[in-house]
Amino acid sequence: MKKVVFSGIQPSGVIHIGNYLGAIQRWVRLQHETFNYFCIVDLHAITVRQDPEALRANTINLAKTYLAAGLDPQHCILFIQSHVKEHTELAWLLGTLTYMGELSRMTQFKDKSGTKGENVGVGLFTYPTLMAADILLYRTQLVPVGEDQKQHIELTRDLAIRFNNAFGETFVVPEPLIGQVGARIMSLGDPTRKMSKSDPRPAHYIALTDTPDVIRKKINRAVTDSGSEILYHEEKPALSNLLTIYHLMSGIPISELEERYRGVGYAQFKRDLADVIIEHLRPFQERYEGLDDAEVIRILREGASRARVVAEQTVRQVKERMGIVVE
Ligand code: AMP
Ligand code: TRP
Repeated sequence: MKKVVFSGIQPSGVIHIGNYLGAIQRWVRLQHETFNYFCIVDLHAITVRQDPEALRANTINLAKTYLAAGLDPQHCILFIQSHVKEHTELAWLLGTLTYMGELSRMTQFKDKSGTKGENVGVGLFTYPTLMAADILLYRTQLVPVGEDQKQHIELTRDLAIRFNNAFGETFVVPEPLIGQVGARIMSLGDPTRKMSKSDPRPAHYIALTDTPDVIRKKINRAVTDSGSEILYHEEKPALSNLLTIYHLMSGIPISELEERYRGVGYAQFKRDLADVIIEHLRPFQERYEGLDDAEVIRILREGASRARVVAEQTVRQVKERMGIVVE
């Protein structure tokens, strides 16, 4: 039996190489060995105010990104979270088992609610129970995500165990699948912060749809460390990040890159790195441009109808176990 995998990305901004190397590229490699649900989590995106037109466009564009990156609808169930209403229903049911204290400790909540004081949306607070619902609906065993999501998966596991203890074995307790390298691609402008979709400075990330010219400029301006050696080292966060990107885009081991660039200046290294990124993204960009909206929507509908079958069963079982009279 193939293991069940679930993961998702929010359609909330420009998809960058951090999302790609930390998530999508890994899903693509995994897809033949596992049974996969890959979701566009629009209901998570609206926990931060979204412009409606932009949300619509970002949702379709993210689906195109999944397909152009190589996710194959023959091997993956690709769908939009809001198309399967059981996600919100299970989120409510699980919310009754989630503690305020647990949600208050979530780093992502603390980061995103930051300076807003009392005006923090409730959705931002209960975001992790919706994420737990996403995962638990499908008897998911593995959740491939970046390092930043580990805490949410821990909470999901706690909720699954808590429910099982209270109402009898119902949920599969999932495990996070976090890559060794690339789990955290850092900002090009500040290697102490992760590359982020919500970064208002486009120079700090490389979007998957950036043109070759833009990629060259961004890599050229990427900050470096003091000294001139090209080494992967904790005292060289900027170079370590650039080497990680180089490695993941080219397949060349980091140690070999260090060897190759010994005594070579930053300028040459950056030119080569830009070329590697441009070449890696070229086939992706060609496929992306060639995708037709109507076809993409058809694939998403089909995905939702397959997901719904499993989601309905789970919610029914959960309600029965909790003593809710089902229709
Ligand atoms: P987000 O951009 O927060 O919606 O994240 C979508 C997916 O990409 C999640 O699996 C994240 O863990 C992953 N991800 C986001 N940013 C990065 C990054 N800078 N490096 C590696 N993975 C990332
Ligand atoms: N919270 C995740 C993020 O910001 C996105 C997400 C929502 C997710 N539901 C999920 C990831 C379920 C994995 C599984 O990246």
